[in-house]
Amino acid sequence: MDPKPTSAARTSLSHIMTSVDTNLLGTVHGGVIMKLVDDVAGAVAQRHAGGPAVTAAMDGMTFLHPVRVGDLVHAHAQVNWAGRSSMEVGVRVLAEPWDRAGVPPTRVATAYLVFVAVDDQGAPRSVPPVVPETPEDERRMREAEIRRHHRLTRRDEILASRTATH
Ligand SMILES: CC(C)(COP(=O)(O)OP(=O)(O)OC[C@H]1O[C@@H](n2cnc3c(N)ncnc32)[C@H](O)[C@@H]1OP(=O)(O)O)[C@@H](O)C(=O)NCCC(=O)NCCS
Repeated sequence: MDPKPTSAARTSLSHIMTSVDTNLLGTVHGGVIMKLVDDVAGAVAQRHAGGPAVTAAMDGMTFLHPVRVGDLVHAHAQVNWAGRSSMEVGVRVLAEPWDRAGVPPTRVATAYLVFVAVDDQGAPRSVPPVVPETPEDERRMREAEIRRHHRLTRRDEILASRTATH
């Protein structure tokens, strides 16, 4: 399978937050941001995989600042790492305050998601390798490998502990 550069699948989605997006405190509900993150990451994964890909895991979702009604929120995503059938997609979420035009956007959240490319039967299928294009892409790939190692080790250790206690 021909490798694809990081830029081939990089995608952004933007959304103006409205009153239906709020929690009881009046700021934007975290689930609204998570939906935007999953949407943009899914678009990236399907572009990279050249077809259907499903969310297998979402971790490292960090909320850094509250988002308010009226804010223009941008989610930027790219493939950080690709394996045999899985990909890690990194997402950066920025918000532009509605009442202070021209100020630089604030980073409000980051997330890392694992997507798996699937065939017609829902079984994993191969994805192209990803080729980092900048030192920043290379750093993200190195860090994605560390996160993958931790994810799989944690999963295996938990499964092993269940087996040991049954
Ligand atoms: C994701 C899914 C296709 C994986 O199927 P599976 O039979 O577990 O597949 P495998 O064990 O062969 O793993 C496939 C790849 O996913 C990776 N993977 C699976 N679960 C993972 C997890 N929790 N964390 C990280 N990677 C994971 C594997 O490491 C493997 O990667 P590689 O091929 O790049 O080496 C399957 O679990 C599924 O369909 N889940 C539901 C997905 C879904 O519906 N999402 C939307 C939620 S509404």
